[in-house]
Amino acid sequence: MELPFAESYRIKMIAPIKKSTREQRETWLKNAKYNLFNLKSEQVFIDLLTDSGTGAMSEQQWSAMMLGDESYAGASSYYNLKNAIKNILGFDYFLPTHQGRAAENVLFSVLVEDGDIVPGNSHFDTTKGHIEFRKAKAIDCTIDEAFNTELEYPFKGNVDIKKLEKVFAENDNKKIKFIIITITNNTSGGQPVSMENLREVSKFAKSKNVMLVIDSARFAENAYFIKTREKGYANKTIKEIVAEMYSYADVMTMSSKKDAIVNMGGFIAMNSKELFDKASVFNIMFEGFLTYGGMSGRDMNALAQGLDEGTEFETIETRIKQVEYLGNKLIDWGIPIQRPVGGHAVFLDADKILPNIPKEEFRAQTLALELYLEAGIRGVEIGAILADRDPITRENRFGGLELVRLAIPRRTYTNNHMDVVAVAIKNVFDRRHEIKRGVEILKEAPIMRHFTVELNKL
Ligand code: F0G
Repeated sequence: MELPFAESYRIKMIAPIKKSTREQRETWLKNAKYNLFNLKSEQVFIDLLTDSGTGAMSEQQWSAMMLGDESYAGASSYYNLKNAIKNILGFDYFLPTHQGRAAENVLFSVLVEDGDIVPGNSHFDTTKGHIEFRKAKAIDCTIDEAFNTELEYPFKGNVDIKKLEKVFAENDNKKIKFIIITITNNTSGGQPVSMENLREVSKFAKSKNVMLVIDSARFAENAYFIKTREKGYANKTIKEIVAEMYSYADVMTMSSKKDAIVNMGGFIAMNSKELFDKASVFNIMFEGFLTYGGMSGRDMNALAQGLDEGTEFETIETRIKQVEYLGNKLIDWGIPIQRPVGGHAVFLDADKILPNIPKEEFRAQTLALELYLEAGIRGVEIGAILADRDPITRENRFGGLELVRLAIPRRTYTNNHMDVVAVAIKNVFDRRHEIKRGVEILKEAPIMRHFTVELNKL
């Protein structure tokens, strides 16, 4: 018999979690104004809100933390991280930041001006937020295949070159300074971008004399998909694939809280000294001095180690197999999810599960609330609430995908937890026809409203 798959680690430290009753959850949810971000973590049994900063570090990372150098300037931890970035990602210059959006804030302070256009593949919400905050416009050039959740397509994160060409043809090219590619494409379902597409977009960017920026939160998962799905990469190591991916980029922004498996941290890396010098001014102003910029020495040490082990095949294989395990169960039961299963999360298709709820009543949010009520599982809405209002018309941006993301933290839950999640979803799915009304917005922030929105259950 062939041996089944098993995790490439054993567990050394645990954090207890508690179940609750449906009555308790109903009260907590009401008090949370039907916004799952407002729940206390102890009110959640299985927390799939995000895989960001929620992973379990290795014993090597914890021991690296003990050697953290907390010097204000020139700390050895900074040089450890600088070496890891050079060796694994290939960039000469980098600026540490406290997390990914801080990297965006610093970089965009240099690169984005009022009226600019930033094409890319389904910009992540903080990326779009930082662009729109500067009165610039993010244009989504993701391939159409990404928006058909049932379609099996290996690289649904890809950029459509024709859409890119159109953006350049229809706009003043002086307003476009860079193209941003997010790997994997979080918003469209944790879907990867192929090496071929990275190569093509890089060629296109060069032909237009603009930079290519890679938003890198889940870069190692992207490399795993290239290895397992793209012709010519099966025998390459993840590190070799990662090196090639970044050979096409001018700049990367990084949220280290995902594939680098630390609880806090980020950076910007680049090859241009000129850009580094310009960004340094903002880094010092917003984040901290150049050799720590928002991170403690111990965190930089853990990150250097995390970059190394996070790009080992076994680490990513273990992770992706768990996400697939959950996704495949749902597919077997006929529950509509974004296919193929993404790298960091399973995305439930709320338009298909709750089509009878008017879209104005936020189907994905309604489904996420039902799942919490069912079993204390916290996912997150990736739908019209997150899509926010159009900055000019202030209309709700309906029409995109209505998904509930169940993001799996790295090395945190077992497949028994995944079984509970799967059955809870099945139970909600089986009683979907009884769910007839959704939610309405009572209060919202002018930008990135999903974090603090207050809702009423109809
Ligand atoms: N880019 C992508 C693709 C992301 O997924 C995130 C964060 C960021 C940038 C911003 O990084 O959180 O470190 O400031 N994503 C988290 C998530 C929050 O849940 O997907 P950050």
